[in-house]
Amino acid sequence: MVQMLAGRGVQTSDDWIVERTGIRARHFADDGVMSSDLATLAARQALQAAGREAGDIDLIIVATSTPDMVFPSTACIVQQKLGIHGCPAFDVQAVCSGFVYALTVADSMIRTGAASRALVIGAEIFSRILDFDDRTTCVLFGDGAGAVVLEASDQPGLLATELHADGRHVGILCVPGSVSGGKVMGDPLLKMDGQAVFKLAVGVLDSVARSVLSKAGRVEADIDWLIPHQANIRIMHGTARKLKLPLDKLVVTVDEHGNTSAASVPLALDAAVRAGRIRKGDTVLLEGVGGGFTWGAALLDL
Ligand code: ACO
Repeated sequence: MVQMLAGRGVQTSDDWIVERTGIRARHFADDGVMSSDLATLAARQALQAAGREAGDIDLIIVATSTPDMVFPSTACIVQQKLGIHGCPAFDVQAVCSGFVYALTVADSMIRTGAASRALVIGAEIFSRILDFDDRTTCVLFGDGAGAVVLEASDQPGLLATELHADGRHVGILCVPGSVSGGKVMGDPLLKMDGQAVFKLAVGVLDSVARSVLSKAGRVEADIDWLIPHQANIRIMHGTARKLKLPLDKLVVTVDEHGNTSAASVPLALDAAVRAGRIRKGDTVLLEGVGGGFTWGAALLDL
């Protein structure tokens, strides 16, 4: 079936999208809904799942590339919506690696005693930065949010984390616009060299996975669940194969959500935990990769 996407004039088809990306559905926020709204909803659900109250939180980090405003941060807006005040709240901008970056920052702050219980949220409204005349990108991305509560404990849940960036690749995935003098300067819509991103992603996801395993004194076979950034099913299958993991250990939600950037890893984690697939005691490898170019991984025992 050939479809004219949302009546906006690009020629594409379900077959092409499913075969090349694995995406079958995605969600767009209604007009007027902001990243902080999705983030607050996800935060409330994470608090409920963790049996904690908003007032128990002493750190909020929101990973987003689609903040409500230039400033203040989306995290401060979330803090206000949750009705808690005083604790540090800030955004992390590492595009699709954002959640792994935010988790690593929260982990470090908890380990140094700067915080004891953090809300770590990935939230995006990518539908507002898509160019609906560019079929190579507008079919890929969706909106969403996911969150976790991370708290100090004698039992190390987070075994090892690792982050990377290589600014030489700024141009292969970017939104090259800004606000200046009251006007939008440059182009405020997403641009991507899909093949360059694909090649880089496959390599770095493999190397960072091996590196965090080695830091934690674990091996590939110790991984119960692999949750890579949900960008493209072919990249995800390639990553699992390189780690010699059977595909039933790979958590896949890209088919339901598309690429939700910083929200994709916590959304997939939430779906797998709520479905009863990921259980207490399981070892989970989270991986992010995205614009910057950025990438990172976190290995955890749940
Ligand atoms: N519908 C139909 N045809 C299309 C579409 C579409 N939506 N998009 C591209 N095509 C066509 C192209 O025009 C091209 O046609 P041609 O051969 O006549 O020139 C053909 O399909 C093949 O295009 P390729 O770019 O070679 O397709 P590819 O197999 O590389 O798949 C894709 C493209 C899906 C974008 C892939 O490169 C990819 O997934 N890359 C990684 C993207 C990614 O992970 N991005 C997120 C990173 S995370 C972040 O930070 C946001």
